[in-house]
Amino acid sequence: MTIPCEVGRLTLEEKASLCLGSDFWHTRAIDRLGIPAIRLSDGPHGLRTQPEEADHLGLAGSVPATCFPTASALGSSWDVALLERVGAALGREARALDVAVVLGPGLNIKRSPLCGRNFEYLSEDPVLSGDLAAAIVQGIQSQGVGACVKHFAANNQETDRLRVSAAIDERTLREIYLTGFERVVTQAQPWTVMCAYNRVNGTYASQHRQLLTEVLRGEWGFRGLVMSDWGAVHDRVAALAAGLDLEMPPNLGVSEAQIVAAVRAGDLDESLLDAAVTRILALVDQAGRTAAVGTGASFDADEHHALARTAAQGCAVLLKNEDQILPLQPQVGATIAVIGAFARTPRYQGAGSSQVNPTRLDNALDEILALAPPGVEVAFAPGFDIDADQVEGNAALRREAVALARGAEVVVVFLGLPDRDESEGVDRTHLDLPPSQTRLLAELAEANPGIVVVLANGSAVRLSDWEDHAKAVLECWLSGQAGGGAAADLLFGRANPSGRLAESLPRRLQDTPSYLNFPGDSGQVHYGEGIFVGYRGHDALEQPVSYPFGHGLSYTTFEYRDLSARVSGRHDDGDLEISVSCVVTNTGSRAGKEVVQLYVRDVEASVARPLRELKRFTKVSLAPGEATTVTLRLASRDLSYWSVARHGWVLEAGHFEIAVGASSRDLRCRATLDIAAQPIRPPLGAMSTLDEWLADPAGSVALRAAVGTDETGRPRGVVGGDEELRKVIGSFPLRTLAAFPGSGLDHEMLDTLIEQLDGPVGPDAGTG
Ligand code: BGC
Repeated sequence: MTIPCEVGRLTLEEKASLCLGSDFWHTRAIDRLGIPAIRLSDGPHGLRTQPEEADHLGLAGSVPATCFPTASALGSSWDVALLERVGAALGREARALDVAVVLGPGLNIKRSPLCGRNFEYLSEDPVLSGDLAAAIVQGIQSQGVGACVKHFAANNQETDRLRVSAAIDERTLREIYLTGFERVVTQAQPWTVMCAYNRVNGTYASQHRQLLTEVLRGEWGFRGLVMSDWGAVHDRVAALAAGLDLEMPPNLGVSEAQIVAAVRAGDLDESLLDAAVTRILALVDQAGRTAAVGTGASFDADEHHALARTAAQGCAVLLKNEDQILPLQPQVGATIAVIGAFARTPRYQGAGSSQVNPTRLDNALDEILALAPPGVEVAFAPGFDIDADQVEGNAALRREAVALARGAEVVVVFLGLPDRDESEGVDRTHLDLPPSQTRLLAELAEANPGIVVVLANGSAVRLSDWEDHAKAVLECWLSGQAGGGAAADLLFGRANPSGRLAESLPRRLQDTPSYLNFPGDSGQVHYGEGIFVGYRGHDALEQPVSYPFGHGLSYTTFEYRDLSARVSGRHDDGDLEISVSCVVTNTGSRAGKEVVQLYVRDVEASVARPLRELKRFTKVSLAPGEATTVTLRLASRDLSYWSVARHGWVLEAGHFEIAVGASSRDLRCRATLDIAAQPIRPPLGAMSTLDEWLADPAGSVALRAAVGTDETGRPRGVVGGDEELRKVIGSFPLRTLAAFPGSGLDHEMLDTLIEQLDGPVGPDAGTG
């Protein structure tokens, strides 16, 4: 990579000034050396490029850009190829708007359905989040524009987001909250990463050296630039030392002075500043080499609108479809009653920094009118006022809607969350649809049993109290500017639903694994559910859910057969590969897409492990009657857990169940494999228990030799104790036993033993 200017030609002041932007959306230019400024722009599902007035809250306007479905919708597509296409479109729009880096995708884990920003995030599962985010990054970057994956890390709530400390144990952090970022970094090498606002185990993410340098760069090989979230820097010098290159927006006049002073005082090693500046110059250079400035780059707004429609079709999840009420097949002369204010006034994106000014906006009512077969009447009634929750206030609207429903062949009801319920900056407090809507639905169902509900919401809503009133429920999420057309396509069967839930839909808020620990208080949120987030928790607790992770119906059906799981290589040699194949057949009469999901379970584990964890997935398109062989490959890491004793990934030998199916609770084929690996020997020490010493082959031999035998040949002291005694003292550390008279051990023997084993000696040895 050519760097436009040697770091050595910059003065200390110039170097410091490069570590912060020049305004809300630009990096700093240094005219003397011909270093240009580059422009950054939100956001995950469309460009929010602000020409003049700047803010990061979506308050001031932005230039028109295509509003694609938001991340919770895109996540439900489970479609890597589609997300790459959407990413490429974002990249094209960025080039046309002279944007060098798109501030997205966001891939924080949906720890609770209450998180106000879940509409901007992909999934509750790290593999799905990471692989889909990687596809978006690849798409954006294929256009010579950088992506910015955010918010690193553990920004899983909006409550107190600028200060709260996420208290997360090491294993949970690795397995759940970092894995998605690791996948996107290693698969797609994003140009930039944005740190989160919050603290992680007490340290601001912007100052978290372990995260920003040791893990991100050291372990994962990230080569790009780390920028702050807007206003996430509290101590510029500490942040720089931790690995945060660029502060946004700039704390002008303050931060650069602090950097200069710290270098002069010897409090900041200048080589750390040089490293940050090198990365900033590299980004400017990379952007400059691919920039579209002055090239007249443009994008085809019609084509992108069409892509937004295709994307929205692929994101919608058909949750239920009794009596195959969908797709609609109205008789000539029939009336379709379209009810619900959202049919005419779509809710298609969320509020905050990701808010896009769309190039145009479809509404479902017009699109249904356009697609309805000749001779079929489409009649509309709003049914409720989106902005008024009061059940009584909507009585007149309800009466009108019920009257319309009574005479209709089928009733399509557009329900959803109002804008005020989902926004950056605030978490929700409940999962319910407004009572004005559920009351309407109940009355419509009394008037007409043929009810189809179409939902617009950015994060899970509770269905258990109203879904019995509907024969079909089509979850469209926040489906972007072309969502209305996509809904019409799906309702009439011009498109076949193929979305799958990227988040569980719980029956009640109280069932969500993080319920007791969300959103915390007093500046702390304790991730008490540990690794049991989302379906991992629901499954462990054997909880019924409204719809499980991975669920979604189609207008056709799929059959799975002939699972084979072939092992090659060996874990201990670092080349273990499990090739899992099965045949998937479209057994219905329509073309459709199936998402094949592969889950792994460690059947015998020494640590608590989830009953199933998603490890691979793919989306296949099949004509009626067509069959295909799907092959998915696993490696050691997919069977491993993060060991807090070893601070690393560990694969424990034994049985693993490989299951393939259509959802986390609809597993169609299973195979059990016996995987070999060196046994994991915890380092033995003075604090290792008697049981641990005796379970370890070398430790047992050494201990037995040290205590010796009595005249009957039985080991002396505690080692020779009977089963009953072992039950009681087996969990005692040897150091404790060595102090007991008659134990057969003393401290000197113990020290010698440990030296012989060449194991660590010390108070904490063996406690992991
Ligand atoms: C958000 C980021 C966004 C930035 C710039 C922040 O408030 O958390 O996601 O990219 O503003 O608008």
